[in-house]
Amino acid sequence: MKVTIIGAGNVGASCASLLAEKNIVNEIVLLDIRDKFAEGKSLDIAQMLPIISSNTTHIIGFTNDYSKSKNSEVIIITCGIPRKPGMSRDDLVNTNAKIIHSVTKESIYFSPKAKFIIVSNPLDVMSYVAYLTAKVDYSRVIGMAGILDSARYRYFLSKELNCSPHDIQTLLLGGHGDTMVPLYRYTSISGIPIMEFISREKNQVIIEKTKKGGEQIVNLLGTSAWMAPSASVVQMVEAIIKDSKRILSCSVFLKGEYDLKDVYLGVPVMLGKSGIEKIIELKLNQEERNLLKKSANHIKNMIKKLDNF
Ligand code: LAC
Repeated sequence: MKVTIIGAGNVGASCASLLAEKNIVNEIVLLDIRDKFAEGKSLDIAQMLPIISSNTTHIIGFTNDYSKSKNSEVIIITCGIPRKPGMSRDDLVNTNAKIIHSVTKESIYFSPKAKFIIVSNPLDVMSYVAYLTAKVDYSRVIGMAGILDSARYRYFLSKELNCSPHDIQTLLLGGHGDTMVPLYRYTSISGIPIMEFISREKNQVIIEKTKKGGEQIVNLLGTSAWMAPSASVVQMVEAIIKDSKRILSCSVFLKGEYDLKDVYLGVPVMLGKSGIEKIIELKLNQEERNLLKKSANHIKNMIKKLDNF
C-alpha cells in the first residue's frame, strides 16, 4: 500500500510521520518543489522507523518527480502557500489554485485510481479545483476540514466542561472558515445531549473560539497549524485504507444533497476503500439550513473569483 504526500512542509512531513506510526502503509512518498527538501525530510522521518517499530518500510522523498508517485492508493495534497498573520484562508485562492491544478494533473497521470485528500487552503475551493482537474468521480476527491474543526470544538468544549475530549461527539458542517456550521443538536458527551451540560449561549462562545482556532495558531506561530491538521488527514487515510466505513465530516462535491449543488462543502460522509461511499443527509432545521446555504454561497463566490487555471 502506497501513499504519496505532495508538499513536504509542516503538514506534509507531519502526515508522513503520523502515518508511519499508524503502521498501515508500507510505502510513503514525499514530493516537494524545493530542491532536496523532500529528500531531507523523508530521510529524517525514515530514521524514526527503527525506534517506532513501524511496518512502513519505505519513506522516500523526491524533488518534483511525479513518476515516483506511480500507483499510489491515496494522494495527499498539502502544497501551496500557508496564510500569514492578518491573512484569511480566502486570500490564498488564486495562488494556490494554480499550484493545486498543476500537482493534481501530474499525479492523476501516474495514479489514475488514487483517492485524493486535499488540505491546501482555501480548502473547499482547492478541493473543487482538484476535482475539476482530476476528472474522476467525486467520491475520490475529498477535502479535510470537518475532522479538524470538530477536533478544535471538542478540545475547547472539554476544557470548558472539564471532561475528556474523547467522549465528545459532534458534527460541524459547511466551509472551512468563519462560515462553518456547528450542530448543537447533534453534539453529545458519551450519548448525553450537550444541552445537559452547557447552555446554547455558552456553547456559542466555544463555537466562536473554534471558528478562530486556525487564526489563533497563525497569530501565535506566524504560519498555519500542522499537527491537528495532519492527525485529521491520517484519520481519513486510515478509514480509506482499512475500509472502515467511518462517518466523518469531510468537504465533498454536492450534487443536490442539502439542496446544494456544484460546490464543495463539509457534510457527514462514510469513508471506505472507494473514498466517499455515502453522503449522509441530515434533517436540518431552518436555521441550520440557512447557515449551510450562507456557507455554500461564500464558497461559490470564491469559485467565481478563480482565474482560469
Ligand atoms: C487550519 C488550517 C490548516 O485551520 O486551515 O489550521
